[in-house]
Amino acid sequence: MKPKITIGGCLLILATAYSLAQESRIVLDQWWSPGQDEVLPREKAYPNSQGMLGVINDDAPVVTDGHAFFEAIGSNGRACVTCHQPADGMSLSVATIQERWQVTAGNDPLFAAVDGSNCPHLPQDDAASHSLLLEKGLFRIPLPWPGKDSHGKLITPEFTIEVVRDPTGCNTHPEYGLQSANPTVSVYRRPRPVANMKYIASTGGFFNIKTGMPLDKDPESGRSVGMNIMSDARAATLRVQARDAARTHLERKEELSEQQLQQIVDFEMQVFMAQSFQTQAGSLSDNGATGGPLSLLEGRRGLGDDFQTPVFGYFDVWRDASAAAAETPAQQEFRESVVRGNDIYMGRSFWISDAVHINSIGLGNPIKRTCATCHNMANTGMDLAPGYVDLGTTNMPTANNMPDLPLFKLTCNDKAPPHPFLGRVIYTHDPGRALISGLCTDIGAITMQQLRGLSARAPYFANGSADSLREIVDFYDRRFNIGYSQQEKQDLVNFLSVL
Ligand code: HEC
Ligand code: HEC
Repeated sequence: MKPKITIGGCLLILATAYSLAQESRIVLDQWWSPGQDEVLPREKAYPNSQGMLGVINDDAPVVTDGHAFFEAIGSNGRACVTCHQPADGMSLSVATIQERWQVTAGNDPLFAAVDGSNCPHLPQDDAASHSLLLEKGLFRIPLPWPGKDSHGKLITPEFTIEVVRDPTGCNTHPEYGLQSANPTVSVYRRPRPVANMKYIASTGGFFNIKTGMPLDKDPESGRSVGMNIMSDARAATLRVQARDAARTHLERKEELSEQQLQQIVDFEMQVFMAQSFQTQAGSLSDNGATGGPLSLLEGRRGLGDDFQTPVFGYFDVWRDASAAAAETPAQQEFRESVVRGNDIYMGRSFWISDAVHINSIGLGNPIKRTCATCHNMANTGMDLAPGYVDLGTTNMPTANNMPDLPLFKLTCNDKAPPHPFLGRVIYTHDPGRALISGLCTDIGAITMQQLRGLSARAPYFANGSADSLREIVDFYDRRFNIGYSQQEKQDLVNFLSVL
């Protein structure tokens, strides 16, 4: 018999949820449910641990009643907004995921078996079956193997894949795994922010300047695309992405209608987000500082990799204490730290080595460059060229130790050009771009994320392997032997926290 929920029981659940919220100072009404049907205002600020995140809807008011991004238009009760929450920088933080688990006793559609659990065959009532989502914010991304290119043509991969370790049981499962009737590789990834798309979904030139290969084309218009959407650049356009997301994450059976597609893409192109307030520094857009989401409406597109045209030049006014009078010494101190963090990001060079699509493209290996060499796109900190780079976050031996993630052994065939730095046998948590291109060189290449709204959406990296901004900086320090001082690390963290 199913336990009957009494009114008293409901009150108890509410009271528990309330005290949980009090304890962790989480604001419950920040959660946006599918079908909530409120009108989105032009500007709204959402508290997070560092201050506030600002979200702007340029086409406001956005009516969400009947809107394809906000309604549960699939078969599992989820909407796009389920995993792309305004309060979380249009992504989803692990803190929010844990809160949903507690508030709904694991019954939120967020936890749907298809990809909100480690594998659909596991007992779904058991929190352990959702451990990757609950602990690292990771959704299962099942990709067919071999995959298809952007023209829908089956690829001929240069490597074979063996499953070395399968903690979720999905990659070896007879129904879901690599040996199943529909051979599938399951990797586990963080949701990417769906905002500031004006910059990210821009079109490219004709060739990928890093590889000399033609860029993928929009299957509808035939125009070249920038190849910066999704960790593996598998979606040429936002329209392609939306169709795929509806089919997979929402388990929608029929195609999206033209009107729904248009509604989704229109919404994505007009929503902007950035941190707008920092507890110590104060407003990020007042008294000469030009951060916050409003600055993104008419921001410059293009390269931002020198000091004349920096990637994020919003806090220069803080260089001059007399120009931007701080109210307290603590405020002044934090602001100065952000300015130093910006200078480290733009100018503190270190030896970048063995990163495919940076060190493999004729620039040299190693090269003495900066964060902004890779994160060079003005206003977002992505890469203006296709941004999938093997930073070493998923490939051994440089990846952070993640025993709960699958481990694959990829063996490249003799005729294929080997991975430039790892050879022909590579162990990885996520082959990244190589799952789409089939190229040995692309193994472990992951499209960098935008650096906006970071304070609202921990953990970081596509596989959630960095719990905090500090862990990101520590990863780079180890990976490239940078030798940052404690002060430099803190400055970088403070700088990243206000974007
Ligand atoms: C169950 C959670 C979930 C739902 C629901 C969901 N997404 Fe996502 N979204 C993700 C994940 C995870 C990724 C990253 C996947 C990857 O990198 O391979 C992502 C990536 C994206 C991106 C790429 C952003 C970028 O800059 O690369 C867009 C755009 C997007 N989603 C739109 C949508 C739309 C539109 C819908 C509804 C039709 C939707 N999402 C529903 C989890 C979700
Ligand atoms: C060799 C190119 C390269 C360099 C240099 C580089 N990055 Fe990255 N960065 C990447 C790639 C690629 C990713 C995505 C990796 C992943 O998700 O696995 C990334 C991800 C990130 C993220 C995570 C964003 C998110 O939403 O999860 C942050 C923050 C970041 N980098 C900051 C920095 C800082 C600070 C520096 C300088 C110390 C730096 N990066 C240097 C390529 C680079």
